[in-house]
This record gives sequence, C-alpha cells and structure tokens, in this order.
Amino acid sequence: MIKIAPSVLAADLANLGAEVEQIRLGGADFVHFDVMDGCFVPNISMGVPVLRSLRKATDLFLDVHLMIDRPLRYVDAFCKAGADLVNFHVEADTEENLLLAIEKARALGKKTGVTLKPATPAEAVLPYLPLVDLVLVMTVEPGFGGQSFMFDQLPKVTRVRELADAIHPDCEVEVDGGVDAETAPLCIRAGASVLVAGSSVFGKADRAAAIRALRPQT
Ligand code: DX5
Ligand code: ZN
Repeated sequence: MIKIAPSVLAADLANLGAEVEQIRLGGADFVHFDVMDGCFVPNISMGVPVLRSLRKATDLFLDVHLMIDRPLRYVDAFCKAGADLVNFHVEADTEENLLLAIEKARALGKKTGVTLKPATPAEAVLPYLPLVDLVLVMTVEPGFGGQSFMFDQLPKVTRVRELADAIHPDCEVEVDGGVDAETAPLCIRAGASVLVAGSSVFGKADRAAAIRALRPQT
C-alpha cells in the first residue's frame, strides 16, 4: 500500500488547518512537515509552535522532516509538540548523536526515520537501519519546494529498499522532492512506499484528484 504525504511547505500557511483538512478528505496518509533552520539548508520554514498548532487541528499522522543542524537539541520539543514520526538527516550530526536522537524519539513513543541528501550513499543508513521505521531518500537538494526531480536518485531508492529487506523488512522507503504524477510511478517501481508531494498536491485546486493521481493507477 503506497502512502501519500503532502508537504505543507507548499500549502497556504495562513490557512494551514483548512489546507490539512482538504488533504485529509482527499485521502492523504501523512502530513509531511518540513523544518528548516537556515544553517543545515539555506532556507527557514516552520518550527515547534506551528507543529503544536497543527497537532490540535488534525488527527492525521505528522511526518516531521528535520532539516536542522544537530537535531538532538530539539528532538524532545518536536516530539512533545505532536510529531508522530521524526526524520533525521544522517549528515546533520555524528553517528553517536544521531543514535541518541533516535533513541530519545523512540523512548517518547514516536516513530523515526533517517534521511539522505542526494550526495549521500545508500549505505549511510546502515548504522540506523535496525532502529528506524523509515528511510527518506531526497530526490532534490533539501531546502526548497518546487524543484525538479533528480532521476539519478532512483537507483539509491532501490538500494535502500534492498538493504531494508535484508535488515529490517518493515522499514518504509520514502521519497521527497519533485514527486508528481509522472515521477511517482518511477519512485514506486524503484521501491518507494511513501511519496512526499508539495507542489503537485497543494499547487492544484482539487487536492483529492491530485492525491489520486499519485497513487498507482489500476
Ligand atoms: C524540500 C522539502 C520537501 C518539499 C517538496 O527540502 O523537504 O518536502 O516540500 O516539495 P515539492 O514536492 O514541491 O518538490
Ligand atoms: Zn521534506
């Protein structure tokens, strides 16, 4: 079963509650929530107070993508604000600190993920794979919505799926960046089971139709 995770980075943030209700009615599985700190990536988006408000507005599963340096400092705050799953970039800190961050989120009852930038090889997930529920493969450079899909990341999606099958078969593989009705089938064929989509959902007036267009067509 393919899960669709619209990214609210592309939503009308002055109407976040209503935007998320539309994607819930449209059949979204997760809400993807992008956190950027202006250091790990050259952009600043939203943080803990917005997540806390969003948690009050929806029961949808909140998939939090932390694009921040040394996320161990904030894992407690994002978990307590209502994240259901916290994604940590493997490039954001030492292996030791990232393992501590993952353990902390798990101890607070949350699911966890590790995320790979385009230049990071699939094998970088190995220290974390037994512990995490999801691996996120970036299909654009993190930092901005609306970029073009990087087709050269597809073999990495397949490789991560192979590693997960060998070590932790329940682990999901998520893709993020430039996912639309044309690129979604390629991601699914490569082994992705969760598709993040910002512009291709919130850029369309009919969100239900946009979400349907990303699912495998029968
Ligand atoms: C980019 C973010 C993405 C972004 C995707 O750094 O991680 O989640 O919102 O946007 P689209 O789907 O428009 O590429
Ligand atoms: Zn994201």
